[in-house]
Amino acid sequence: MPLIAPSILSADFGNLADDIDMINRSEADWIHCDIMDGRFVPNISFGFPVLYAVKKIAKKPLDVHLMIVEPEKYVDEFARAGANILSVHLEASPHLHRTIYAIKEKGMSAGVVLNPHTSVSLLENIIADVDLVLLMSVNPGYGGQKFIPGSLQKVKTLAEVRESLGLSFRIEIDGGVALDTVGDIVRAGAELLVAGNAVFGKGDVRENAKKLLGAARSATLTRV
Ligand code: DX5
Ligand code: ZN
Repeated sequence: MPLIAPSILSADFGNLADDIDMINRSEADWIHCDIMDGRFVPNISFGFPVLYAVKKIAKKPLDVHLMIVEPEKYVDEFARAGANILSVHLEASPHLHRTIYAIKEKGMSAGVVLNPHTSVSLLENIIADVDLVLLMSVNPGYGGQKFIPGSLQKVKTLAEVRESLGLSFRIEIDGGVALDTVGDIVRAGAELLVAGNAVFGKGDVRENAKKLLGAARSATLTRV
């Protein structure tokens, strides 16, 4: 069954508590928190003070996506701030195996993230150790970008790898997930759908989440 993780990057930061409350009362499953440092990606989002505040009122797991250099330096603090799932970019992690185990030792689920140009084959020696693989379907840094269609083949490849190795990590996709792309994404094999603009962009947050989830679920019924 597909799950959705609204990205608060597209929320109204002047009324963040209201948006979190709407997510709490929606059918969304996780709350996706995008941490950007202006170095790994060309944008700066928010950091620990916001995360601590979100944790106080969130009633759903915090899915924290680090778009920062040297993510290993901050694993302990993200655990303290209440991250439930912590994902680091392969491109930012020269000692990925060590970082993945540091995340797990702190009691969080550990995820690895790939940029659009990074091959799934590079996961070969870490795939059995992660709880989640997050595939970027836009170049990270901003919300509201267009889905890169080539990402679908990466999802398929990853789903095949998982099947052939008998593993159970989750496949998450991030970037440009919307009503017009979600069907193909789910049919390709992704089950965790991050959505920023599609949930917070316009209209009612809870209704948007419900519609997106509905479209994702009906696509699983037509999966070949
Ligand atoms: C992009 C972030 C995403 C972003 C998705 O760098 O990692 O999580 O918020 O936004 P949409 O769904 O608008 O593409
Ligand atoms: Zn993200």
